[in-house]
Amino acid sequence: MSFEKYYSVFKAYSDVYSDEYKRRIETLEPLLLKYMPQKGRVLDLACGAGGFSFLLEDLGFQVVGLDSSESMLERAKEFAKDRRSKVEFIKGDARNLPFDENSFDYVLLIDSLIHFEPGELNAVFKEIGRVLKPGGRFVIQFTDLRELLPVLMNGQVVGAEYWISKVLTDPDEKTVVIEFQSEKESFRVRFNVWGKTAVELLAKLYFRRIAEERLNEHSYFQVYVPKK
Ligand SMILES: C[S@@+](CC[C@H](N)C(=O)[O-])C[C@H]1O[C@@H](n2cnc3c(N)ncnc32)[C@H](O)[C@@H]1O
Repeated sequence: MSFEKYYSVFKAYSDVYSDEYKRRIETLEPLLLKYMPQKGRVLDLACGAGGFSFLLEDLGFQVVGLDSSESMLERAKEFAKDRRSKVEFIKGDARNLPFDENSFDYVLLIDSLIHFEPGELNAVFKEIGRVLKPGGRFVIQFTDLRELLPVLMNGQVVGAEYWISKVLTDPDEKTVVIEFQSEKESFRVRFNVWGKTAVELLAKLYFRRIAEERLNEHSYFQVYVPKK
């Protein structure tokens, strides 16, 4: 049961030069340009391999990327060396950020809700509210896994080599175990299941929403400002 394996297999998250990763960037770039009109200091939270950190750096922002995974950060730092990037990559926990309050103009949280249980996401949102400057923006992109789950089928192909061989939902649907299979191997990952309504209710505790864009049937891009 390993995210390590999941990220090493799916290039959409681990290889910023892959077509899959580039497609994610191409989808979000126009929205980031639209909703991040002033240059400033950005925290790319749960930055993974760093693709969005590099994009924002190229667009003129000053970027800090934070992730809890040593191996993801190693990838990000390798890519950074390659590109002569000045992004500062830091190991840390989104639930307890190593920054002073009012430190950032923007905080980005892209495609990362699967990692957090409800209490944990509450802590993450609270921390984002704390480190954002008044009038700063919290930019989030997520998939409504609660809506997507019934559509995920055994046999569905994901990536170039793998297909989904099992979808095991727990009785209260808070988490799901997905088994990925290739010709050579199989592995399982447990995801936290977040629906749009639950994300919004939690966000409402700390933020006011100022924009929303629907990316596809199950994926959303939202912009919030902190209540302070
Ligand atoms: C699906 S990846 C997304 C990475 C990046 N935002 C992107 O879109 O390419 C989710 C990331 O969340 C990170 N993560 C999980 N739990 C975390 C935590 N408590 N604090 C910081 N990062 C965390 C994982 O290591 C992983 O790199």
